[in-house]
Amino acid sequence: MRRSACACALILVFLTSCSNTTTEAPPPAKAQPLRPMKQAFGSVDGKPVDLYTLTSAKGMEARIMTYGGIVVSLKTPDRTGTMADVALGFDSLDGYLTTHPYFGALIGRYGNRIAKGRFKLNGTEYKLATNNGPNALHGGRKGFDKAVWTGRALPEANGLELTYISRDGEEGYPGTLTTTVTYTVTGEDELRIDYAATTDKDTVVNLTNHTYFNLKGQGEGDILAHQLAIDADRFTPVDSGLIPTGKRQAVEGTPFDFRKPVAIGARIGESDAQLKAGKGYDHNYVLNGAAGTLRKVAEVYEPSTGRVMEVSTTEPGVQFYTGNFLDGSNKGKGGKVYGQRAALCLETQHFPDSPNKPDFPSTMLKAGERMQSTTAYRFSAR
Ligand code: BGC
Repeated sequence: MRRSACACALILVFLTSCSNTTTEAPPPAKAQPLRPMKQAFGSVDGKPVDLYTLTSAKGMEARIMTYGGIVVSLKTPDRTGTMADVALGFDSLDGYLTTHPYFGALIGRYGNRIAKGRFKLNGTEYKLATNNGPNALHGGRKGFDKAVWTGRALPEANGLELTYISRDGEEGYPGTLTTTVTYTVTGEDELRIDYAATTDKDTVVNLTNHTYFNLKGQGEGDILAHQLAIDADRFTPVDSGLIPTGKRQAVEGTPFDFRKPVAIGARIGESDAQLKAGKGYDHNYVLNGAAGTLRKVAEVYEPSTGRVMEVSTTEPGVQFYTGNFLDGSNKGKGGKVYGQRAALCLETQHFPDSPNKPDFPSTMLKAGERMQSTTAYRFSAR
């Protein structure tokens, strides 16, 4: 009896140890949690720049660097599963140090234009660095797109947190502004961007990302056959310097109506004063739905590859820009030349020149308060 009890106990121990071994074995590769990968990418003014790779289980891959918080590449599958990089840019850091139109970059402190580079806040007039004729564009001469951000991988969230502290008076803006931008790649093949900022003096802030998308793949011709839908009944018309007039104009009956999907090229050549002013689409849309809640506001579909990009945001506006000023002067990834309309941008934002337009949603950030916004670009194919 004792011996058989002993044998039983031994068998039990053996079985238990076997089952323990099984439980502790690494899970199959597919079930491995996805983690951001970091690598050195060069340096700017002696400051090291890192490149982070975020991947989704379905295969989407975003590479983002700490210089300018730039989305360096964005690979997504088409309807046959073939991957392509759908973001314009350069192969190495050097390219991004040349003059280029904000490829993939984080834009701050103020996305888009502030007329004559001036605004009044609490009775004081602030003069900003001007870099677009008489106007201030995308934060000035050295905006957030040219800063080296501090990067921190967020393994649990499959994300990258970037922080930049902009000193009081930088590019003319008041207040020390601490900005944190978190990029996350979700299981839904989404590149999610969470923006947050605090200041020690009242100031204005309008943060966005300036990725140039071509869903056929970067450098694969123009985006005129891409079909676009924007959930907006109105847009903000501009003057010849692309400063909003302050009006909100109905899209109904104009080439600006994208409430149902339309090919971007279908009406871009029409003789329309607003299209002429922008040399194509370069306009802010007044998004439907409640600003402050994350809602789907746009969808782009590329018929030849089936790629789809859905845009959701908490922002009240989006700048739809058709790469009108791309002129082939930038040699991009793989030596591709980016001509006019080689990409489109959907820059979620507050409206341009809001600090001078009391009627527009306010971009003021008060000392001690925190602004927060979220935008997500979701990729699929059909
Ligand atoms: C602006 C365009 C500008 C482009 C690149 C867009 O956000 O609306 O007018 O040319 O950025 O700077």
